[in-house]
Amino acid sequence: MSSPSSVSLESAPGAVKLPILKVSGLRKTHETAGGDLTVLKDVNLSLDTGDTLAIIGPSGSGKTTLLGLCAGLDDASAGSVELDGMAIELLDQDARAALRNRLVGFVFQSFQLIPTLTAIENVLVPLELRGESGKDIHAEAERLMTEVGLGDRLDHYPLQLSGGEQQRVALARAFIHRPKILFADEPTGNLDAGTSGPIVDMLFRLNREAGTALVLVTHDPALAAKARRVVTMSGGEIVSEEENAAI
Ligand SMILES: Nc1ncnc2c1ncn2[C@@H]1O[C@H](COP(=O)(O)OP(=O)(O)O)[C@@H](O)[C@H]1O
Ligand SMILES: [Mg+2]
Repeated sequence: MSSPSSVSLESAPGAVKLPILKVSGLRKTHETAGGDLTVLKDVNLSLDTGDTLAIIGPSGSGKTTLLGLCAGLDDASAGSVELDGMAIELLDQDARAALRNRLVGFVFQSFQLIPTLTAIENVLVPLELRGESGKDIHAEAERLMTEVGLGDRLDHYPLQLSGGEQQRVALARAFIHRPKILFADEPTGNLDAGTSGPIVDMLFRLNREAGTALVLVTHDPALAAKARRVVTMSGGEIVSEEENAAI
């Protein structure tokens, strides 16, 4: 009698890997005093698990809107966003928040740190939302704060930190729960050359070591050049896509 195969579907040769992100016919229209304004027009995009993607394009082209919709922070006017095979528009707010907390890290252009919490308390928020607590998570938060160069700023409040320092706290917060996909909106936008290098290295180390897929909106050519795929947006559409053959 033959025994049942122990090879799981995921590791079976030729198994189809689900994309971590699949965007289909995504549209966003704002109602404004001057009439409806469509700022995202039927965008289609798919990203493999563990892959890296940079989104570039002029200001106002819809990059931040696309990122927010992909991460389930905002509702689309039409179309679908699947995260790890789950269509987020089918989930209620609680289920969507739980999915986000399990899978997604997000670094906002404007940081969005909680002003009444210290830097290290901000970093711990994603784990506390998961109900984790204790010394281990505190040690991990301290390690990440040290890695972003802020080991001596643990108990500072956001208003006591510079823009670049707040950006680094926001990155540590996005890393702490080892998300399967990390969205970052201009992650080096507030950093000078000296501090952006280590942050970029940290992003790509998270990709290599934890397999976190990266979706990075950036104006920084050096950062875009490190991603395997680069898409360009203009007027609410993806107008071109390139692959970096060296990666
Ligand atoms: N709430 C809103 N109401 C109306 N228009 C908006 C709103 N939010 C964003 N927009 C417009 O959507 C367009 C795309 O914005 P955004 O996604 O922030 O672009 P990018 O990140 O590429 O600079 C811009 O023209 C912006 O003015
Ligand atoms: Mg933007």
